Amino acid sequence: MTPRYEASARHPRPADGFRSGNAPGRTPVVGHLPQLVRNPWPFLASLPRYGDLVTVMIGPRALHMVCDPDLLHQVLVDDRTFDKGGPLFDKAREVLGDGLPVCPHAQHRRLRRLVQPAFHPTRMPGYSALMGEQITEVIDGWQDGQVIDALSAAHEIATGIATSTMFSTRLDAATLAEARQCVAITMAGIYRRLLTPTALERLPTPANRAYDRARARLHHIVDQIIDEPGRDRTDHGDLLSILLAAGSSGTDGMTPQEMTDQVVSFFISGITSVASALAWTLHLITDRPEIAERLQAESDTVLAGRIATHDDLPRLDLARRFVTETLRLYPPGWIFTRRVSADTHLAGRRLAAGTVLAYSPYLLHRRPDLFAHPERFDPDRWLPERAASIAQHAYVPFGAGPRKCIGEAFTLAQATLVLTSITACWHLRPVAGQTVRPALRATLIPQRLQLEVDSRRT
Ligand code: HEM
Repeated sequence: MTPRYEASARHPRPADGFRSGNAPGRTPVVGHLPQLVRNPWPFLASLPRYGDLVTVMIGPRALHMVCDPDLLHQVLVDDRTFDKGGPLFDKAREVLGDGLPVCPHAQHRRLRRLVQPAFHPTRMPGYSALMGEQITEVIDGWQDGQVIDALSAAHEIATGIATSTMFSTRLDAATLAEARQCVAITMAGIYRRLLTPTALERLPTPANRAYDRARARLHHIVDQIIDEPGRDRTDHGDLLSILLAAGSSGTDGMTPQEMTDQVVSFFISGITSVASALAWTLHLITDRPEIAERLQAESDTVLAGRIATHDDLPRLDLARRFVTETLRLYPPGWIFTRRVSADTHLAGRRLAAGTVLAYSPYLLHRRPDLFAHPERFDPDRWLPERAASIAQHAYVPFGAGPRKCIGEAFTLAQATLVLTSITACWHLRPVAGQTVRPALRATLIPQRLQLEVDSRRT
């Protein structure tokens, strides 16, 4: 893509063709924090006006936001220079240890190679069958006319699916509920700690104590599952089987601590991001009745009232576009950071080792020059003839390059199965009087979303 800035004598175009700038409205001491906290979404969406690499001050710390898709691609493919790090990942490491999403470049390739077989396409039909069971369990429990909290329902489905596909053996209901609670508390804790000075983290406040307890308990639950008596090394078709096999694969195998870190990471990623995506999907069904009608027609034709299976996926065209567009409008991971590992140059700016960069799928996905009418929910923009005109690196809900999400195909299958199964069996209506807005949390979630469910089964 061609950068949008004209070179001039005062501002010559840098060697890589991209321009850097500063976000306006910086306040002494706190920098841009007030804008980011009070008005995060318009503030983020405004940044591309000031350059392809825009400096934002978070208190005294500079964060360079990559606002151009091609520049971002350049950064994401060079994960040696632009390594995992920065405030978000430093905090997340307290919980995820050396889990794949947070481990440094030096460890990454080996760990990714060891866990990759768990996401091989041949394993997807087995995972989809387990997804179907979990979807049935949750949506068959709804009563005609019941009001559900969309985020809780999405969490319930995502947790059930994460545990059954990862551990095959089911956790008992009480442990499952506890694990869900621990994930919610640790995610909220990571986000809170991002915004508070480090010194405050050590104070024995109720929130800090709850965070420490949840973190320890989550690791304990995972360790118990890994060490479950009688768990053999045979392949149960779940993710843990692959990790255990990788753990016993000679000198290159995973250590017990690495294994726990991977399972905790998959568990947290598999629940939080997916629950957020599912909740937004439910919101958009109710927000756009005309699209929901088309979706119901597709579900009725393909499923005729039953729960969707893996074999149905190729015929669920609109549902797949619906999910793709949901992830554009409401990308669950709205910000990610990188730390420069060696002095370098980017967009005409010298970046010393240790400099922190960030990218935001939300920001890119809302750029009007990349997506026509970006605020409009339009699944048909992903029809092949229209999608061909979308800039190549503009859509990044799963990131890009070597650190791209390992769970992309898993997530797309899951969200499509959930969406179609729900629309086949239930009609969803929003509860009157609520304004649905994204809340500023570690993942993008709807602040308040209650829906009434009416049965479509006669
Ligand atoms: C809506 C669902 C999901 C979204 C939007 C999402 C998004 C992302 C993004 C943007 C990244 C890259 C982060 C970066 O650049 O720093 C990532 C990495 C990752 N995700 Fe996901 N994710 C989702 C679901 C999942 C699921 C279901 C799993 C596992 C079961 C998973 C496991 C991972 C792992 C392990 C990484 C690190 C990959 C690596 O560094 O090699 N994600 N995800």
